[in-house]
Amino acid sequence: MHITMIGSGYVGLVSGACFADFGHDVVCVDKDERKIAALLEGRMPIFEPGLDELVARNVAAGRLRFTTDLKEGVKDADAVFIAVGTPSRRGDGHADLSYVYAAAEEIAHAITGFTVIVDKSTVPVGTGDEVERIIREANPQAEFAVVSNPEFLREGAAIDDFKRPDRIVIGGDDPRGLEVMRQVYRPLYLNKSPLIEMSRRGAELTKYAGNAFLATKITFINEIADLCEKVGADVQDVARGIGLDNRIGSKFLHAGPGYGGSCFPKDTLALLKTSQDYDAPQRIVEAVVAVNDNRKRAMGRKVIAAMGGDVRGKTVALLGLTFKPNTDDMRDSPAIAIAQTLEDAGATVRAYDPEGMEQAKPLLPKLVYCTGAYDAAEGADALVIATEWDAFRALDLDRIKALLTQPLIVDLRNVYPRDMIEGAGFTYHGVGR
Ligand code: UDX
Repeated sequence: MHITMIGSGYVGLVSGACFADFGHDVVCVDKDERKIAALLEGRMPIFEPGLDELVARNVAAGRLRFTTDLKEGVKDADAVFIAVGTPSRRGDGHADLSYVYAAAEEIAHAITGFTVIVDKSTVPVGTGDEVERIIREANPQAEFAVVSNPEFLREGAAIDDFKRPDRIVIGGDDPRGLEVMRQVYRPLYLNKSPLIEMSRRGAELTKYAGNAFLATKITFINEIADLCEKVGADVQDVARGIGLDNRIGSKFLHAGPGYGGSCFPKDTLALLKTSQDYDAPQRIVEAVVAVNDNRKRAMGRKVIAAMGGDVRGKTVALLGLTFKPNTDDMRDSPAIAIAQTLEDAGATVRAYDPEGMEQAKPLLPKLVYCTGAYDAAEGADALVIATEWDAFRALDLDRIKALLTQPLIVDLRNVYPRDMIEGAGFTYHGVGR
C-alpha cells in the first residue's frame, strides 16, 4: 500500500512511521520546511519515546520519506491521511478546521486514480461530508472516497498504542474505500485488534464521546477525592474498590490536579459546541469542563493552604510541568495554573521538569528554572509534585529535607505513600487521602 500523511505532527509522524514499520510505503508531507529538513536529518520535532529509532529504521529501509511537496506525495497514494492540527478556535471553542479544508482542496488537485481520503485529525461530526464536498467541487473528475479513522494514541505511549490498539474505528459507506482501509490495517487486525466499521458520522462522534467519557471518569474520581479528604477516606482505596468492578474498570481513576493536554480540554469543548449546534445538550460534559477548569487553580490554593495560608515572600519547589510524564507537551497543563496561582499569591516558584522546560518558559516566564529536583528544593519552603515523572518517584528524602526550610511535601499526583513521607519526618498532603 502507498500511504501519504498530510501533516507530520504528533499523529501524522507516529502513524506514518508505524505504517512504514508494518511494511507499507509511506510519505509524510508537511508545509513546514524546517520540520521536514530536521526530519530528513533524523531530528524529531516532538519528544516521543522510541520514535527516533522507528523513523531511522524505516527511512533506512526505504519505506518512509519526508517532503514538503504535497502533489508529489499524493499522486500515487492509495490512501491519503489528513493529520493536520485542529486547534480550538479563538473566541468560540469550535475546532478550527481551516487546515483540514485547505489540505482537502490541495489533495483534490493532486490525486490520480482511485484514492481514499482519510480524516485522521479529530474533527467534529459532519467534517467528512464537507471534505467530500470540497474535493468534488475542486476536482469533479476525481475518483475518491472519504472515510473517518480517528486516532486514540496517548502521548508517551503512542507507538505501542498504534501497534496494539484496543480497536480500530473506520467510518464510511463506500465499499472500495472500506476495502482499502482493511488492507491498510491488515497487519494490525491480523494481530487480533478489532476493526469496527460504522457510518462516517458515527466514527467522528466516537472519538469525541470516548475522550469526553475518559475526561468524565477522571473528573468524577477527582471530586470523589475531595469528598475523601472531608470524610477521612483514601481515594486510592475507593478507586481500587470501584475499579475492580469490570463494568467500571480501573483505568483513568487516578485522582490528581485535573486533566490537561492537547486532547481532552479541546475535544470536550468541541463536543459541547456540536451539542449546541444540534440542540442536544451534554450537561454531564458541561459540568466536567467547568469542574476541571476550577480544579487547576484550586490545586494552587491547596498548596497555599498547606503552607499556612500566606505564601508572600515564600518559595515553592515545583516538580513537573508537563501535563503528564514522558512528554514535553505543556498544552493545558495543570502546572500552569498551579504556578500562576502561587505567583499571584506572592510566592517564588523554583521549577524543574525533565523535558518540558523549554516549552514552559514562554508560558511561565517568571519561574526560576532549575537543573534538577534537588536544585529546585534548595531553600524552598515546600516541595510540590505536579507531574508524576519516574525521576520523582525515588527522591532522596533526607537530602530533600536538608534542602527545604521546612519538611513539607504536597504530592498532587499521589506518587508517595503517606506513611513513607511522614516516616521520613515530613508533613504530607496528597490528593483525596
Ligand atoms: C488522550 C487519550 O487517552 C487518547 O486516547 C486520545 O487520542 C488523546 O487524548 P493524552 O492526551 O496523550 O491522550 O493523555 P492521557 O494519558 O489520556 O492523559 C490525559 C490527562 O488526564 C493528563 O493530564 C493526565 O495526567 C490526566 N489523567 C489521566 C488523570 O488525571 N487521571 C487518570 O486517571 C488518567
